[in-house]
Amino acid sequence: MNNDSRGRTTKDGIRIYDRADFAGMHAAGKVAAQILDDISAHIFPGQTTAEIDRLITEMVDAAGATSATIGYKGYQHASCISVNHVVCHGIPGAKMLKDGDILNIDVTVIVDGWFGDTSRMYVAGKLPRKAERLIEVTHEALLRGIEMVKPGNTFGDIGHAIQTFVEANRMSVVRDFCGHGVGRVFHAPPNVLHYGRPGSGATLEEGMIFTIEPMVNLGRPETKTLADEWTAVTRDKSLSAQFEHSVGVTDTGCEIFTLSPGNKFHPTYES
Ligand code: MF3
Ligand code: CO
Ligand code: CO
Repeated sequence: MNNDSRGRTTKDGIRIYDRADFAGMHAAGKVAAQILDDISAHIFPGQTTAEIDRLITEMVDAAGATSATIGYKGYQHASCISVNHVVCHGIPGAKMLKDGDILNIDVTVIVDGWFGDTSRMYVAGKLPRKAERLIEVTHEALLRGIEMVKPGNTFGDIGHAIQTFVEANRMSVVRDFCGHGVGRVFHAPPNVLHYGRPGSGATLEEGMIFTIEPMVNLGRPETKTLADEWTAVTRDKSLSAQFEHSVGVTDTGCEIFTLSPGNKFHPTYES
C-alpha cells in the first residue's frame, strides 16, 4: 500500500485505505474485541441483557473509546444482544438469561475516528447440543469466508464459501442482513452478502476494509423485524447464531482487526 492510493474509491464505490489506516483499524478492532473478551465473565443464568449492556457501556468509556451504536439511527445502547431465535439487533433489556440460552453480543466502537465492529456467541449456563452445532457451523462459516479474502477474489466467492458450508450442514444463511464496508464510517459499500455465486460481485483489492458477519439459522432463513423496529427474529422461531470480524485486504490475503486478545473468540464448551 502506498500513499497515492490515499482516498481512492473503486468503480464499485469501495474505499481503498492505506497502511496507516490499517493501524487505526487494528487499534479500534482491538478495543472492541477486548470488550467481548471481558464481558464473557458476566454471562450467566439470571443475568439481564440490560446489565450486560451497562457493563459494556462502562468498558467502552474506560477504554477512552466511543460507542458507534448509541445514537445510531435512534438506537440507544452500546451493544446489540440477540438471544436464541433473535437473529440480530436485539435490544438489551430487563429479561433474564436462562440456563441454555445462547446469545450474540455485537459491539462497535470508535477509536480515533476508526470503527471496530465485531460480534460473537456466548452461552448462559450449559450449552445445549443443538446450539453447540449451530455455533460451531456459524463460526466455521465465518472462517471459510475470511479464507477467501485476497486480491483478485470476488465478494461472491466469500458468500459462496459461507453458503455452501452452512447448507452442507443442513442449516440456512440469513439473506435479509449482510456485512458492510467499514473504516472511517460505520456502514459503507459494499454489501457483503453471505451467500452467492463464485466470481460474482466486486473484485477484492488491497486496502479494502469490510465486515463479514454471517447469521445462520437452524431452520429456515426468513426473518421478521418486531414492532420495536430493531429486533430481527427467525420467522419459524428456530435458533440463530452469528459471528462478525472486521477485516482488511492485504497484498496476499487479509488482516483481521478484531481478533480476540485472550483467544476467546471461539466459544469453549466446558460445562
Ligand atoms: N454492529 C451492527 C453491524 O454489525 C450494527 C448495529 S446497528 C445498531 O453492522 F444500531 F443496531 F446498533
Ligand atoms: Co457489522
Ligand atoms: Co456488528
